Amino acid sequence: MQFTVKTRDGDLHSVEAHVGLSLMENIRSAGIEELLAICGGSLSCATCHIYIENLPGGAELSSKSQDEEDLLEASDYLKPNSRLSCQVVFQPPMDGMRIVVAPDE
Ligand code: FES
Repeated sequence: MQFTVKTRDGDLHSVEAHVGLSLMENIRSAGIEELLAICGGSLSCATCHIYIENLPGGAELSSKSQDEEDLLEASDYLKPNSRLSCQVVFQPPMDGMRIVVAPDE
């Protein structure tokens, strides 16, 4: 299983996806270090901000917690498809999804 990440330079990277790990953990373990994820996934930094560009039919994302909403709303780059990638766990129906790294704060 895999998903595609577009980094800020416009390059596309294919990431081998591990089910049960967050998108942030998958991206970091693929060696893409643009996603700083300073807090390590403890929902306090927002440096793992991404956009969900394409989700395969049948795949569903977990809903946002209030803390995730609050952190995203503090971003100048908030979009309707914004998520914090440490809060989205990769599941098999997401195979082939595409995400974009949000601009730096
Ligand atoms: S890694 Fe800090 S909020 Fe996601």
